[in-house]
Amino acid sequence: MDDLRDKYITAIAEAADEAALEQLRVAAVGKKGEISLKMRELGKMTPEERQVMGPRLNALKDEINAALAARKTALADAALEERLKGEWLDVTLPARPRRQGSIHPVSQVWEECTAIFADMGFAVAEGPQIEDDWYNFDALNIPSHHPARAEMDTFYMHRAEGDNRAPHVLRTHTSPVQIRSMQAQGAPIRIIAPGRVYRADYDQTHTPMFHQIEGLAIDRDISMANLKWVLEEFFSVFFGTSVKTRFRASHFPFTEPSAEVDIQCSWQGGQVKVGEGDDWLEVLGSGMVHPKVLEAGGIDPNEWQGFAFGMGIDRIAMLKYGIPDLRAFFDSDLRWLRHFGFPGLDVPTLHGGLNR
Ligand code: DAH
Repeated sequence: MDDLRDKYITAIAEAADEAALEQLRVAAVGKKGEISLKMRELGKMTPEERQVMGPRLNALKDEINAALAARKTALADAALEERLKGEWLDVTLPARPRRQGSIHPVSQVWEECTAIFADMGFAVAEGPQIEDDWYNFDALNIPSHHPARAEMDTFYMHRAEGDNRAPHVLRTHTSPVQIRSMQAQGAPIRIIAPGRVYRADYDQTHTPMFHQIEGLAIDRDISMANLKWVLEEFFSVFFGTSVKTRFRASHFPFTEPSAEVDIQCSWQGGQVKVGEGDDWLEVLGSGMVHPKVLEAGGIDPNEWQGFAFGMGIDRIAMLKYGIPDLRAFFDSDLRWLRHFGFPGLDVPTLHGGLNR
């Protein structure tokens, strides 16, 4: 019995890992282990022998189980110790300046637009990016058969079989926020709605996700003249120089009359410069809000009228900061982000200046 004890206690103390420990446990106290077999022999002994051997065998079994448990804990402690050594980290080291992030030009321009329109009394409104097709189309006077639906290359959300609810789309423009804002606030209203929009399109000037900023002003006597002043004011502050605009008659289902707006620019040496020269660049769609759209928003068109516009944020960011390819915005190329990005604390404000 002493030999048995020495053999196992020594082996357990030297076991290198949990697998070795488990082998020892099976060999000693497992069902067919040496000690278990010895216990079975108790039955063949005389009662006197059994009285001596029974307690001794039980004590040995307990001792071995305890040694197994102790060794197991020691191995786990050692493994943890080893891991902690490997994962040690000096949290008092200073941050590496190269790791500092930068503000994406789209975010910067989004904030610039917000600052300029806020100064003119426009509040910021939001709507969902996964939009009910009624808000995205019908409420904006674009019925199902209307060609504008096909032109927009809409992403439709998958619908489970038997689901009869109205279809949902990834909004193709920020215009549905007009309807949601009118429903929520009524008239008078003066909001902008910057946000992400989606269309199935991809080339040098189109990406499946891009950004728009919607504008809406409704009151009792708002006219095209107010629209023109607001936009000219916006472009001049945004580009930091007085910018001429050209309003071209156009058509949108949600406005009547409608106008596309161009800004003055020059193309010298293949580089576009805004606010000089005698070329024109189209930057937005606009018009007087259609009576049917006011009605969809719960506003009485006999009492109220106003203007709306929709502009591409990415587009004007490219123009202002000389970024040639739209797709670069969404490549997540760190070198590009460091070059075109803005310092995190450089929050655009009118008094701080928008043209660095
Ligand atoms: N929603 C239009 C588009 O994405 C842009 C637009 C045009 C918005 C005229 C307007 C508007 O609010 O009046 O192409």
